[in-house]
Amino acid sequence: MTEKDDENVLDRKRKSEDVADTALRPKSLNDMIGQNQVKENLIIQIKAAKARKEALEHVLFYGPPGLGKTTLAHILATEMGVNIKITSGPAIERAGDLAAILTNLRAGDVLFIDEVHRLGRQVEEILYPAMEDYALDIIIGKGPAAKSVRLKLPRFTVVGATTRLALLTAPLRARFGAIFRLDYYDQESLAAIVRRGAGLLQVPYDEMGIYEVARRARGTPRIALRMLRRVRDYAEVRADGKITEPVAHAALDMLNIDSVGLDDLDRRVLLTILDKYNGGPVGLNTIAASLSEEADTIMDVVEPYLLQLGYLDRTGQGRVATKLAYEHFGKVYPDNKPQPQLFGDSTA
Ligand SMILES: Nc1ncnc2c1ncn2[C@@H]1O[C@H](COP(=O)(O)OP(=O)(O)O)[C@@H](O)[C@H]1O
Ligand SMILES: [Mg+2]
Repeated sequence: MTEKDDENVLDRKRKSEDVADTALRPKSLNDMIGQNQVKENLIIQIKAAKARKEALEHVLFYGPPGLGKTTLAHILATEMGVNIKITSGPAIERAGDLAAILTNLRAGDVLFIDEVHRLGRQVEEILYPAMEDYALDIIIGKGPAAKSVRLKLPRFTVVGATTRLALLTAPLRARFGAIFRLDYYDQESLAAIVRRGAGLLQVPYDEMGIYEVARRARGTPRIALRMLRRVRDYAEVRADGKITEPVAHAALDMLNIDSVGLDDLDRRVLLTILDKYNGGPVGLNTIAASLSEEADTIMDVVEPYLLQLGYLDRTGQGRVATKLAYEHFGKVYPDNKPQPQLFGDSTA
């Protein structure tokens, strides 16, 4: 399979998941649970823009998958009472594709660009003046007779989403008026999300059952809701239909989700570092190669949560498993381990 095919498969997978997601997607900021700081900022931005009768400033959301970036883009459009046009970095192949999208926007519309770090160079060049001056520069004619014409665009709002802020070019980043980082959700917020989902799906539950799902959801609403659906299936087939702690526990065990929410891939990554590389340091690409997994998947999906749990450190020499990781697997932490040089604030 080519890289392109891989991407298509990934995109299709994402799409089918998105369909299941939309039914449970909160429709307004009020409906949305958690991320309070982001919400407060957005409420102010929306109020101010509405009062001035202007389009919302361009907004960028970044953070691990499943935390609500797409949801927030939809909510922003709803709250502003405008249309949303949805696209993604890899979907806009040529500059002309973007020009066509831009000329179809109406005043105030939201243009949601998912995976905005994957925009091509030439496409980005079109986007800069569009975002900054609401202008579209097009070349008419060929050769010496060619001339550049500047078209005026209506004022619109780009909402960008990315799992990789670091891969965004500086000029693109500079064109967003507000940049928000989405963090993993705490247990209370996740429990509230699962409870709301159970209500919408009309599944009977008790509080212990809700918390059992929330605890194992990796701080991620998408995972919490996916688990909720699997637990519901299990409850209906193997129990009396009600989501209780023992039912949730048994269902999640069957899915190989452990007590802190680690799934198969998370555990394989950690165990590779622990067993194959003596706890590290070991480079990301080496880990990926020995697992036959994409380095990108490990970096975007696996590592952020392991870092958050304090099971993993990123050091100048590579990834290192922490004492907590050893303990999680019931392994003895070698006390003669040299202390690695840590980057930044990962002082755990
Ligand atoms: N704060 C939230 N409250 C309730 N449900 C949420 C929340 N955030 C996300 N979700 C649910 O999780 C799913 C995944 O969110 P999504 O916005 O697609 O994540 P991302 O775009 O960051 O990958 C959504 O369909 C929605 O049902
Ligand atoms: Mg998304």
